[in-house]
Amino acid sequence: MTEDVFLVAVDGPAGSGKSSVSKEVARRLGFGYLDTGAMYRALAWFALERRLDTSDATAVTEAMGEFEAGISLDPDDYWVRVGDVDVTSAIRETRVAEAVSGVARVPVIRETLNGRFRELVADSERPGVIVEGRDITTVVAPDAPVRVLLTASPEVRAARRSAEVTGQDAAAVADALHRRDASDSAVVDFMTAAPGVDVVDSTDLDFEGSVSALIALIGNMQEVQ
Ligand code: DC
Repeated sequence: MTEDVFLVAVDGPAGSGKSSVSKEVARRLGFGYLDTGAMYRALAWFALERRLDTSDATAVTEAMGEFEAGISLDPDDYWVRVGDVDVTSAIRETRVAEAVSGVARVPVIRETLNGRFRELVADSERPGVIVEGRDITTVVAPDAPVRVLLTASPEVRAARRSAEVTGQDAAAVADALHRRDASDSAVVDFMTAAPGVDVVDSTDLDFEGSVSALIALIGNMQEVQ
């Protein structure tokens, strides 16, 4: 990745709080924020719009050739677009969440999107960018000066997800989260920290505690550099 932009790589499972924490840290430090999962979701949305079978790797790889997506790196003005369509909300729908692992499983899709992530970071005019996903610490930015795995116990993650989602009972939310964990883990191991990656376990931390922990890690490393 680029030498000029200070990179913070954050990985973690669904419900760990990594998106909201990363976005807030970016806001406070004047950094950019790149939500890589949103691009996988946008591609899944695009494939569903085309009525493709998202488990068909060949069909999705072909569709990738026509997939033109844009994503904002501004934590105060976050949006995702496919062509001219704003899909910021649509990519959070259950049908997309259920299809996205199939899309994320295809190696050529991962390589193509990783190239796009690196370009987006290089084009950023901010002093730093927090890149958040599942394989950022290991594949996308293994040389980032700050690499963090943000975790929380399955119970706490399910409870947090449940508080975010309205109209579904807690057991159904926990069940969906565990299914997501299982299908996502088949693609990349985001539950174990790679060597040199700092673990922030947010099980007993509130939002502010997680934000402070990440800011402290970034501060320590900026002093060293
Ligand atoms: O973080 P999220 O729930 O928005 O991620 C959506 C999906 O994309 C999820 O199935 C994991 C996958 N993903 C991935 O494989 N690699 C990434 N860097 C980011 C997300």
